[in-house]
Amino acid sequence: MKKSVEYENLAKLNAPFFEAYQQSFQAVMQSGWYILGTQVKSFEEDFAKYHNAKYCVGLASGLDALILALQALDLPPASEVIVAANAYVACILSIIKAGLKPVLVEPGEDGNIDVSKIESHITPYTKVIMPVHLYGHPCEMEVITSLAQKYQLHIVEDCAQAHGARYFDKKVGTFSTIAAFSFYPTKNLGALGDAGAVLTNDENLAVKLKALRNYGSHVKYHNDYIGMNSRLDEVQAGFLKVKLKALDHINQHKRVLAAIYDKLLDQRYLKPKVKEGFFDVFHIYNVHAQNRDKLRVYLKEHGVTTEVHYPVAPYRQKALAGIFTQEAFPVSDKWHATTLSLPISYFHTLDDIAYVCDLMNTFIQRENT
Ligand SMILES: Cc1ncc(COP(=O)(O)O)c(C=O)c1O
Repeated sequence: MKKSVEYENLAKLNAPFFEAYQQSFQAVMQSGWYILGTQVKSFEEDFAKYHNAKYCVGLASGLDALILALQALDLPPASEVIVAANAYVACILSIIKAGLKPVLVEPGEDGNIDVSKIESHITPYTKVIMPVHLYGHPCEMEVITSLAQKYQLHIVEDCAQAHGARYFDKKVGTFSTIAAFSFYPTKNLGALGDAGAVLTNDENLAVKLKALRNYGSHVKYHNDYIGMNSRLDEVQAGFLKVKLKALDHINQHKRVLAAIYDKLLDQRYLKPKVKEGFFDVFHIYNVHAQNRDKLRVYLKEHGVTTEVHYPVAPYRQKALAGIFTQEAFPVSDKWHATTLSLPISYFHTLDDIAYVCDLMNTFIQRENT
């Protein structure tokens, strides 16, 4: 029987929290304090505690979190930042916006930066490695940490897709000088609008980041830095505080759905392989298929919507023409040409996923006979 399985539905995803959100909204509304009030402070405390980190600074978006993290490090202009070639374009934009130079490294089999290729890209100008825990899958942090120590580099983690993911016994976001998060509504910990944050254990950096989000000002009308207005919104902080309590449950649900895909999907699809010790939170569950676009159409015709993260490699974006010295990234190109993101939201049921698997298995069977 034909069924409809949407890739995402933010109203359904948030429905279990509506009542608590309403109470939180009422409290903010009646407080009369709408910018950097008790909700932001309290969410920052909760989020830092969840990570066993010392400081959290709430910001307006994940892109701002990356830009301000890099700006706070006060690096010489045009310092190099190493990042995966197939990462989200925001990672690369943040490096350019911070006046630094992105250096792209091909991804490995898991879609994260290929750690065996990082060292050959380190130059005297390299100052930062930016591991992006893509799709909720932690990067190989042991290798990245030892390279950072060997060459005296900062790590700035991008955890936008990996809230609650763990590399062995540590949560992502705790391996770096500063870690950046997005709370864009679709994220595992998503707000009802734009929002972001950084984590750090360095008090000076935390204080500086609080100034940077507020025009560069520690004291009203006195500016120490060229900052911006990037404050986490009080209403969104209230919603995030509610949802943070359910984050482990959300992640667990997504892991159960991922396990169904792993079990039921035809072996001819290239599925995510999660190594021992990597706790993946499946912000996205992707497969690789040579005839991806045809498969997408077939699924759509049968009621299933999918996404592609991402159809175009950052180095091929018009806006970034001329930025990179290396000309070709074939591994990244192949990734973008074949990856397909399947439905895996908090509201999906086990039956929804089984339906998607049935369709995908019928498709691959037909294509190969
Ligand atoms: C890996 C990654 N980095 C950065 C961002 C930027 O976050 P935001 O959309 O909150 O600016 C995103 C989000 O969409 C992302 O997926």
